[in-house]
Amino acid sequence: MLKLLFIGDIVGKPGREIAEERVQRLRRELGIDFVVANGENAAAGSGITGSIARSLLEAGVDAITLGDHVWDQRGWENEIGELDRVCRPANLPASCPGWDHVLIESRGFKVAVFTVLGRTYMNLKAECPFLCADRMVERLKGQADAILCEVHAEATSEKQALGWHLDGRVTAVLGTHTHVPTADACVLPKGTAFLCDVGMTGPYASVLGREVAPVVSRFMDGMPRRFEVATGDVRLSAALVEIDPSMARATRCELVTVRP
Ligand SMILES: [Fe+2]
Ligand SMILES: [Fe+2]
Repeated sequence: MLKLLFIGDIVGKPGREIAEERVQRLRRELGIDFVVANGENAAAGSGITGSIARSLLEAGVDAITLGDHVWDQRGWENEIGELDRVCRPANLPASCPGWDHVLIESRGFKVAVFTVLGRTYMNLKAECPFLCADRMVERLKGQADAILCEVHAEATSEKQALGWHLDGRVTAVLGTHTHVPTADACVLPKGTAFLCDVGMTGPYASVLGREVAPVVSRFMDGMPRRFEVATGDVRLSAALVEIDPSMARATRCELVTVRP
């Protein structure tokens, strides 16, 4: 069996620190072959930079995915193309820079990773995630033994629908973006691991990773404020997917929570 660990949205320095400190130990202790991490909030809670991406890769992450915060850091659009183990959401316009998937390999087994953005309650110029995923699966199935589709979306319904849509055609459909882990990890009937949201890797004594007080005040009076990344109750949240390499099917999917 092969094991893939998907680390949910890394938020700011607290998220980077726990991810970088623990990734090699998790690889050893859990016998992980592949580590994928969403880094869309890695730089001060918004976006990512080249040096942060390189640091995560050096710490033992094999591939980094992104989400709606992909372009939040100035200059990243000029750097993303140099990093072939980093991909931006595949359903952004084709003219956007960056790779639309990453191929990773362990023990002679290749996994292709790509992300689609949802469109319900999301505000990006993204094409239909279902049609994009269909196209990516057709393109990648000859290049990889297994495919992981990350669905970076707000609505649980859209994520579940994509999970069923891809069941049996990819090895895992894993949700990100809400920063709140869900209790629905499963393997769908045709062998696709599914989880609505992996949750974030960052401070849980927070509102989605940010300091509580300014967010509460913003909800109450609507005035703009700085939302600093919080510091308390840091956790790494991930999905652990076990893959039967002979069929490229998932045999197990579970949520993993790591505390310092
Ligand atoms: Fe996020
Ligand atoms: Fe997001």
